[in-house]
Amino acid sequence: MPSKLDAKAYVSEDWLRTENEKLFSRSWQFAGLETDFKTPGDYQALELGLYQIFIIRQKSGDLKAFHNVCRHRGTTLLEGKGNTGNSIVCPYHRWTYVSDGRLKGVPQIKNCFPDLDRQKLSLKPAAIGVFKDLVFVNPDPAADFTDFVKPLQDKAWPHDLTAKDVIEMPPLHYKLNCNWKIFVENAVDGYHLAYLHEKTLGGPLVDENLWEQHDDHMIWYAADEQDMRHSLPVKNRKEAKAWRARAIKSADMTGYGGVYFLFPNTLITATPYTFSIARLIPTTAGTSDMTVRQFGRKGDARDERKHIPGYDKVTDTIRSELWTKPALESGDFQTEDVWICEKVQKGLNSPAYEAGPLSSGSGAEDPIIWFQESILKAMNK
Ligand code: FES
Ligand SMILES: [Fe+2]
Repeated sequence: MPSKLDAKAYVSEDWLRTENEKLFSRSWQFAGLETDFKTPGDYQALELGLYQIFIIRQKSGDLKAFHNVCRHRGTTLLEGKGNTGNSIVCPYHRWTYVSDGRLKGVPQIKNCFPDLDRQKLSLKPAAIGVFKDLVFVNPDPAADFTDFVKPLQDKAWPHDLTAKDVIEMPPLHYKLNCNWKIFVENAVDGYHLAYLHEKTLGGPLVDENLWEQHDDHMIWYAADEQDMRHSLPVKNRKEAKAWRARAIKSADMTGYGGVYFLFPNTLITATPYTFSIARLIPTTAGTSDMTVRQFGRKGDARDERKHIPGYDKVTDTIRSELWTKPALESGDFQTEDVWICEKVQKGLNSPAYEAGPLSSGSGAEDPIIWFQESILKAMNK
């Protein structure tokens, strides 16, 4: 079966605009950990597609999300992360909001706005949900979080990220020269593992791994041992044993998946030793940002950033322009993936590109078709 999306889905700014309007404006996206917001007033601002959002811990203990847009002239209210104290103050004309979004103060209200109804000018809410300590937001306040997480309820990774033996490593910020969907499609493609990653992952072959579809989400399993599913292929488990790697206590991964793709743009990798969450954000049709938050076992986890090819300390970003040797000599499978995705983007930019047949099988390229069908469903709504 050929690809269901033609080149324009990956190269056209018009397509991206529609994607922002129809897909990202009503998608659940990973926004952080619940423990990022410890005390009332703790907030984090985020850019999600066309939207500016912030998440804030309430006095009641709840987490809420709002559109980060002042109801007066539209200034974004909060930046980065921090604590707002009791109120959110717009820097432009000092309209002041309570952390639950209500408009509280308007300077010179009697003189300047004799008829103003403050109740009509609360901050616009966005939807928020927490699943296994991960916070997701959706710009559409009516979005249903249960629908999003239901397919994962009894299949999700067992890790407890708040446990004492788990530690967070510095996040990775990739600047990718490819459309965000090319990166997702590569991540769910089981056909390339033994070839592109011959020197790193070295497999598994298409019948030794499988992706399972759960609504729009997918879960990957190593299936190279009879009647057994695992988060890692046998080869990697043997290697880990040889290195005497110590597992995270909560992460007994027997029977669990190793990669969880949450539609549209969250990729979770879960092994007995590590846990990571990547979010892909389109910046233009042909470029994207990927932020990866990573967790490991206390005492064993290290800051690996300076060993990652293309890491620039000044901007804290990873970029292929800064590679000093060929990707296939890097010994890093993620670098191999970035390299190949950027090469696919170049090929798709060529007017000569025509979609070729995809390999069939749930451990091959069927998951690419599933992803594309979900994209088309969202785009045609
Ligand atoms: S734009 Fe926020 S107070 Fe004027
Ligand atoms: Fe790969």
